[in-house]
Amino acid sequence: MSASQNEGQRSDATISLGGRTATLPVLSGTLGPDVVDIRKLPADMGVFTYDPGYGETASCSSKITFIDGDKGVLLHRGYPIAQLAEHASYEEVIYLLLNGELPNKGDFETFSNTLTNHTLLHEQIRNFFNGFRRDAHPMAILCGTVGALSAFYPDANDIAIKANRELAAMRLIAKIPTIAAWAYKYTQGEAFIYPRNDLNYAENLLAMMFARESEPYKVNPVLARAMNRILILHADHEQNASTSTVRMAGSTGANPFACISAGIAALWGPAHGGANEAVLKMLAAIGSKENIPDFIAKVKDKTSGVKLMGFGHRVYKNFDPRAKIMQKTCHEVLGELGIKDDPLLDLAIELEKIAINDDYFVQRKLYPNVDFYSGIILKAMGIPTSMFTVLFAVARTTGWVSQWKEMIEEPGQRISRPRQLYTGAAQRDFVAVDKR
Ligand code: ACO
Repeated sequence: MSASQNEGQRSDATISLGGRTATLPVLSGTLGPDVVDIRKLPADMGVFTYDPGYGETASCSSKITFIDGDKGVLLHRGYPIAQLAEHASYEEVIYLLLNGELPNKGDFETFSNTLTNHTLLHEQIRNFFNGFRRDAHPMAILCGTVGALSAFYPDANDIAIKANRELAAMRLIAKIPTIAAWAYKYTQGEAFIYPRNDLNYAENLLAMMFARESEPYKVNPVLARAMNRILILHADHEQNASTSTVRMAGSTGANPFACISAGIAALWGPAHGGANEAVLKMLAAIGSKENIPDFIAKVKDKTSGVKLMGFGHRVYKNFDPRAKIMQKTCHEVLGELGIKDDPLLDLAIELEKIAINDDYFVQRKLYPNVDFYSGIILKAMGIPTSMFTVLFAVARTTGWVSQWKEMIEEPGQRISRPRQLYTGAAQRDFVAVDKR
């Protein structure tokens, strides 16, 4: 295939195959590599493109998040993640991702009030929790309960109406911390704590998880600040597996609560959002520093199936900018909480040191990702391992909802329907069972 520059911002690529030639438009975005628009390829050439896992395919155009994996850049609506993590509240980031701009004071107040006023759950939702076993993984509870919200808000079935979409967006983002915290309380056998309107998003999440009916609860500002940052760092990450799942489910016009439930399912896996939980399990399994060389040897042995959890990323091949901020936050939180000798943290730091100097990891550009540190911070904050991915899901709901809205509002939006390279049996005739 060759590309030639035409006038303006657009060039064409030509592809020749079996004596036929097709001219394909090359589209330029604001930032990042150009993309070859192959939509006419099947009609012009009779072929599809092959890209298992869509790793090299732009599945949509989006104005929300930009990543340059080689340079370690992550921008939300143009703003660098480090600036947002340092200066913004999570609520401002929600507004930004949903609406495209940072809010002015008045808009922010109205928006925050609306968000606060949607944090309560319908009282019948409580019944869903009772249906789960006490030892249910809270991700299972989250996935089921968020999906169940679709039965409570049938107005969201008609997503062609803008007001319905906006209400569903607010309800999802406002209610997910309540569901997440109650999933935790349920597994602990503790009474549910209702949201408080005097607290911000991060504070409320902590209060609903850690407050008890029997005593007053004061949110620790260090933990609230760290939670605010964790939420911001996980808010969106362009077309990752769970976001693509939400977009794909949503492309059929399905109820948005059901679509976000699909995103939660996709996030759960250890190759994606489940990695922060897997990091802690891995550290516990390694046990002590002396066991690190043996563990690293296992990771390098392809037959072992062991991976260094919290390392590597499909897109970031130099460093994960979120990991850098998280690493700093991790030390701040541990310092402010007075945790000096945490064996798991010592182990993590030693593992990080060895891995970033080891040829296996260097050659494959495997660096610590955001989950390597988030697991350690969350543990220091007293959050149980099984809740790590749940908190990721709480934060990512903002990204999922923003991407879902953008997709639905795209002119000419169509159902997602990838094609395949079929490698199964060619057509053959059915043979009756007694003749097989
Ligand atoms: N430990 C050991 N080896 C690894 C790891 C790892 N964590 N990650 C990748 N590799 C190796 C692969 O085996 C492969 O080796 P090879 O070239 O000899 O065959 C090479 O590095 C390239 O790996 P790919 O599988 O092609 O990388 P890919 O981009 O497909 O995978 C992924 C990315 C899934 C994140 C992977 O690195 C991984 O499983 N990491 C551990 C889980 C994790 O931390 N996930 C969180 C991701 S961040 C997030 O979701 C927020």
